[in-house]
Amino acid sequence: MTIRFDGKVAIVTGAGGGLGRSHALELAKRGAKVVVNDHGGTVDGSGGSSAAADAVVEEIKAAGGEAIAKGSSVTDDAGGANMVQQTMDAFGRIDILVNNAGILRDKSFAKMEIGDFEVVVDVHLMGSVKPTKAVWAIMKEQGYGRIVVTSSSSGLYGNFGQTNYGAAKLALVGFMNTLKLEGQKDNIKVNALAPVAYTRMTENLMPPEAEQMLTPDVVTPAVIHLVSEDAPTGTIACAGAGVFAVAQIVESQGMYLGREGLTAEQVAENWEKIADMSNAKPFFMGGEQTGKFFEMATKS
Ligand code: NAI
Repeated sequence: MTIRFDGKVAIVTGAGGGLGRSHALELAKRGAKVVVNDHGGTVDGSGGSSAAADAVVEEIKAAGGEAIAKGSSVTDDAGGANMVQQTMDAFGRIDILVNNAGILRDKSFAKMEIGDFEVVVDVHLMGSVKPTKAVWAIMKEQGYGRIVVTSSSSGLYGNFGQTNYGAAKLALVGFMNTLKLEGQKDNIKVNALAPVAYTRMTENLMPPEAEQMLTPDVVTPAVIHLVSEDAPTGTIACAGAGVFAVAQIVESQGMYLGREGLTAEQVAENWEKIADMSNAKPFFMGGEQTGKFFEMATKS
């Protein structure tokens, strides 16, 4: 079955280059009308122009697709509202939002200025929250929506020098976890991508030979699946070098230690069993954990 997006409208943020450009080109190739958002600027978020977004729009048009450019920052409330309004004026609906824009301000935590922490959280987290908020009512009204947030292995697992970036990237998973519940009844599916690609953002962090293997176009098929009709919801899809995987937050079965006279020493003594991940399970929502605790405590 071929995945198509005829009649669908997609916004891709940070689509002037790297992964976002690749997602935008592929969505357009598969029939979507695409809004190419990019603020321009450098990897650390300084500067800005709509030239990068304009160039990708030209590429899409040259290939016979339909697209418009939007040069506003994902953190700009007025710019975001304006982007959504322009999209509605031009195309009449919004089916897909790929939150992809991002910057880096790497430094060890000891050397990091709070300002560099705040700006990275702002672009990645609020720069996904704000566009999502701007399209949410439209998707609910339509009874259809597909949203992707872009997370990272740095958030899922850690990466030296990226406390700011890692915190922001895992915050997006938290955002997804609840949004997927709130979108369920209106057929809005929300997923996360944890990509690996050789782009201007990572070229200084990766060996040059990585360039050939880690091209953005081999990540994009994961995004296409995540925004398709048959998309899963609440999934963290990992993709890079042609490899695809799913990451999950799981919890060990754990152990009931009783409540009367409970001590920290008991927790310490039983730690191996408490932390035994052999029967670990994911949950679809937080309340399931409370349910498990009640059940284990009442059964014992
Ligand atoms: P990139 O630097 O090529 O692309 C990011 C784009 O976002 C740029 O075109 C930039 O102009 C745009 N942008 C930055 N701030 C913006 C803002 N405030 N408003 C609108 N646009 C803005 O980097 P890449 O690698 O393509 O990154 C795409 C996403 O994937 C980012 O969220 C990044 O954190 C994430 N990611 C990338 C990985 C990789 O291996 N390349 C690994 C894990 C996550």
